[in-house]
Amino acid sequence: MPRHVAIIMDGNGRWASRRLMPRSMGHKAGVDALVRTVEACARRGIPYLTVFAFSSENWQRPQEEVSGLMSLVLSTVGHHLGELARKGVRVRIVGDRTAVSDKVNEAWTRAEQATQHNQGLTLTVAFNYGGRWDVVQACRRALAAGVRPEDLDEAAVARHLSLSYAPDPDLLIRTGGEMRISNFLLWQSAYTELHFTDCLWPDFNEVELDRALQSYARRDRRFGRVSEAGSAVREA
Ligand code: IPE
Ligand code: IPE
Ligand code: MG
Repeated sequence: MPRHVAIIMDGNGRWASRRLMPRSMGHKAGVDALVRTVEACARRGIPYLTVFAFSSENWQRPQEEVSGLMSLVLSTVGHHLGELARKGVRVRIVGDRTAVSDKVNEAWTRAEQATQHNQGLTLTVAFNYGGRWDVVQACRRALAAGVRPEDLDEAAVARHLSLSYAPDPDLLIRTGGEMRISNFLLWQSAYTELHFTDCLWPDFNEVELDRALQSYARRDRRFGRVSEAGSAVREA
């Protein structure tokens, strides 16, 4: 079982278009898929789930869609926070909060504070997040904390990354059929196992999750070394 699952929740717009509905309906259905997935991961004992909800680049979408997504944050926190808090979920937000409205930031802060002492699954929502942003902000914060440029090593950068409280993701799932990272956890996914599925995010369910977990269980994670099986053959 992976300790940390990351998901690029993609395909909301296409899910809605196929139903001749506005894209906003796809995002709404995507929230339901997220709540189901959080509960499914918690039931399987996965300690960390990180989801990509809004990328640094998603501001380039039509203004109407962007403001719809911001409103969806407010209604989602309003509707689902209590339920997730009762289930022991701890919510964390990562991303550049400076460009986000006060209202949305307040909702995120409320979600973090209401769940900060929970001991169950840690749900990290990447919002106005970009992997490149994360590396830059980590370097800046490390230098501001007094790390000298010549001492800025991988460990110092990693300590200041926004997900420093979690192990690197073991498994990254992307729904929606695209096979790219789209500026998600660039540093942290150096050795992450990737799973791509054509399933559109609003259709994601336990069957799809188990498919990804079964695929992960079959992977031989070598981290640059020779596999156990390979070294056994060499020694024989
Ligand atoms: C992912 O679904 C949600 C966000 C990026 C906010 P999309 O909105 O990208 O859906 P598609 O990829 O256009 O179908
Ligand atoms: C990635 O999806 C971002 C999120 C799921 C939040 P996009 O739909 O923005 O990615 P691209 O544009 O297809 O690469
Ligand atoms: Mg997309």
